[in-house]
Amino acid sequence: MFTDSHCHLYDEYYDNLDNILKISEDNKVNRFINNGCDSKTNKEVLDKVSKYKNMYGTIGIHPEYVDNYTDEDILFIKSNLNNKKIIAIGEIGLDYHYTKENKDKQIELFESQLKLAEASNMPVIIHSREATLDTINTLKKYNVRGVIHSFSGSLETAKQYMKMGFLIGVNGVITFKNANLKDVIKEIPLEHLVLETDSPYLTPEPFRGKQNYPGHILDIAKYVSELKDISLEELSNITNKNLNKLFNI
Ligand code: NI
Repeated sequence: MFTDSHCHLYDEYYDNLDNILKISEDNKVNRFINNGCDSKTNKEVLDKVSKYKNMYGTIGIHPEYVDNYTDEDILFIKSNLNNKKIIAIGEIGLDYHYTKENKDKQIELFESQLKLAEASNMPVIIHSREATLDTINTLKKYNVRGVIHSFSGSLETAKQYMKMGFLIGVNGVITFKNANLKDVIKEIPLEHLVLETDSPYLTPEPFRGKQNYPGHILDIAKYVSELKDISLEELSNITNKNLNKLFNI
């Protein structure tokens, strides 16, 4: 059985989550880490992890919401970190894809959550898009560990993250044509690898164009197991072990 280490299972995307989880389990995916992004989805994640036994959650403010978060949203995160089903602060990070103009504000938001993670000894889920250098330099200032979600950088970058104690999250992007990512993932030691769907986004081939869901972990796993020349069972064992160790679950 596999774990989807990063998905966004919100009501706005899935109107029958019970069924989505059931068909995911039929596809050998029996644990779900539901990631919040803003104050609304953080609350939703808290509701859902209390409802579903095999679902864990992360709460955090994504850089995309840098213009609309409040201090209360950060306090809300802080006050819910003692919930046993909340296993990390995330997803948080830096995203310069649409604009770099708010980069100081993004770094400020990122750092406020890294401080929280350091103080509460919580792992972090990192979103970094076109912002590798600033992400690494900011992370270096804090004693934190976690997952680099949806990694798509160079081997050199992966090595820097791994040296800092981070796991590398692989999703459906690995199945896309034209991904240099295949060569990079091939070189990453299994002890640093975790699998994710980032549902409802990034549906793997040959299902692109349809909505993603956690059951597609199996398709990503088949792809990665061939790339790494190991069995699906070995891949599920090692990636679950990596997650259990990081998140203490
Ligand atoms: Ni995500």
